[in-house]
Amino acid sequence: MYYSEDLIEEIRLRNDIVDVISGYVKLQRKGSSYFGLCPFHNEKSPSFSVSPDKQMYYCFGCGAGGNVFTFIMEYENYTFPEAVKFLADRAGIELPSQERNEQMRQQQDLKTQILNLNKQAANYYYYQLYTENGTQAMEYLKERGLSAETIKKFGLGFSNKYSDDLYRYLKKKGVSDEMLKQSGLMNVDERHGMYDKFWNRVIFPIQDIHGRVIGFGGRVMGDGKPKYLNSPETIVFDKSRNLYGLNVARTSRKRYFLLCEGYMDVISMHQAGFTNAVASLGTALTTQQASLIKRYVEEVILTYDSDEAGRKAALRAIPILKAAGITAKVLHMEPYKDPDECIKAEGAEKFQERIDKAQNSFLFEISVLEKNYQMSDPQSKTAFFREVAAKLMEFEQELERENYIEAIAVHYGVGFENLRKMVNQLAMKGYVPKTEEYRKERKVPEKEDGMKKSQRLLLTWLIEYPDLFETVKQYISPEDFTEELYCTVAEMLYEQQERGELNPAKIINYFNDPQQQRQVAELFNTTVLVETKESLEKAVKETIARVMENSLSHRTATLEPTDLAGLQKLVADKRKMQGLAKMTIHISDRR
Ligand code: UTP
Ligand code: MN
Repeated sequence: MYYSEDLIEEIRLRNDIVDVISGYVKLQRKGSSYFGLCPFHNEKSPSFSVSPDKQMYYCFGCGAGGNVFTFIMEYENYTFPEAVKFLADRAGIELPSQERNEQMRQQQDLKTQILNLNKQAANYYYYQLYTENGTQAMEYLKERGLSAETIKKFGLGFSNKYSDDLYRYLKKKGVSDEMLKQSGLMNVDERHGMYDKFWNRVIFPIQDIHGRVIGFGGRVMGDGKPKYLNSPETIVFDKSRNLYGLNVARTSRKRYFLLCEGYMDVISMHQAGFTNAVASLGTALTTQQASLIKRYVEEVILTYDSDEAGRKAALRAIPILKAAGITAKVLHMEPYKDPDECIKAEGAEKFQERIDKAQNSFLFEISVLEKNYQMSDPQSKTAFFREVAAKLMEFEQELERENYIEAIAVHYGVGFENLRKMVNQLAMKGYVPKTEEYRKERKVPEKEDGMKKSQRLLLTWLIEYPDLFETVKQYISPEDFTEELYCTVAEMLYEQQERGELNPAKIINYFNDPQQQRQVAELFNTTVLVETKESLEKAVKETIARVMENSLSHRTATLEPTDLAGLQKLVADKRKMQGLAKMTIHISDRR
């Protein structure tokens, strides 16, 4: 870690978790916790909890959790040191200056180093574009209608014709092969060793919401193949969680985003003044990208290519956006191929008109559906309306459904009542609309064995009812938690208890990896449904017994025949276990 434990802890204490998270999520008090809609997955009713006592958050829906550092790391996509800096600034705490800290460079974590490497590469490519070598690339970009200002603004660059240009440049700066390998900037194969991934291409640096370069796209100048090469996923580049252009679009202050397919489309639109354009990174839109969008806007206008692939992409994106609570509309690009071409041909004003006329996503889906039917044939036409009726059932609200029934009836010149009847008949047959399937698809945390849950429950109770500790420790010691992580956490918790300073959020500080932090948060947020204090006391006792029993059989199975001390402890613990049966457990109130 960069800073002393005490400093980290002070920063944590001075940033109340409810305060901090309230800046991002609307929270409402419910009992001893606050609840809100989870920012890490899509949901309609709040399962995201923030506990002022524990100074932790935990989502009962998706399992996201941790302390205030974890939250900032996850939400802002920051590394741990960046989260520390952010929260220190927020609390007005001055951090020891970076230069004075010699260890820092060595200890810098991999993520920061790779981001740094990407920055150097981006600068290098950028510089090449303005040299003699880059003339052809510059001409190519100009020919495609990009202004000098746009080229600068997007940090476009050029990778030279040689396949080891960047490699040699970075080697001279002392970067290790291992680091280069992990950066995604190089290819490695047995015959050629390590060499540049990008050469003789125009380079599009890809930035995250903070403007940090996380990867690159490279386009051939002309008709070569593949047209675009992209960085592979790396520790800093998760294609499903980023959008090209979002770093600018998020500050555009428009109530909607324009979502398109490509780098050039984004750049063209921005150049024409549509700075709210973003693109997914050569892959289909993901649910994570949809939730990312939802942080900034509630409406998306799809500006995909007008070809079959673009139409299919739109059909796939619409339900994903909808599930994230985003209204989608579809812009009609015909007769042009994509936004780049459309804007070049018609100009910004006409493009704005197309935006204003963008089609409601449901009506778009219906119009695509229509293409599968022969509307001049009564049988085919009827089949079409049957399918339309089934789709209309996606609308749960009656008024909304009726509005759509009306719109479609008017558009196709059929009777409103007839269509409505058709929908109602389907409903009576118990037809399940598609949206239900999406909901079912949502990933539920994997079902794991009850033993792990018992151990987690016990840890949760130990912090929720600290008085239990005196009893529990007579039966269970940290080693009885057979999961490695649980055991580590139990050791820290027991130590805190002995010192009389219970502080679960501090325990999270000791884990660097947000994944682990999330698991630790889970350890302190495990629940079972118990209605009375008596049944809780019973549950505690049973859980102690279960954890003990598991530990006993685990030890019996692994005990070395020569380990006398181990054997003695085993016998003693077995006796204790019998004593437990006669014990009654009393629980005083929550802390
Ligand atoms: P397009 O082929 O529509 O690219 O692919 P484009 O942006 O219109 O490119 P120009 O205008 O011909 O230069 C859309 C997106 O799909 C990804 C890229 O992200 C591209 O922007 N793609 C496409 C690739 O990753 N590799 C390819 O070979 C082609
Ligand atoms: Mn295109």
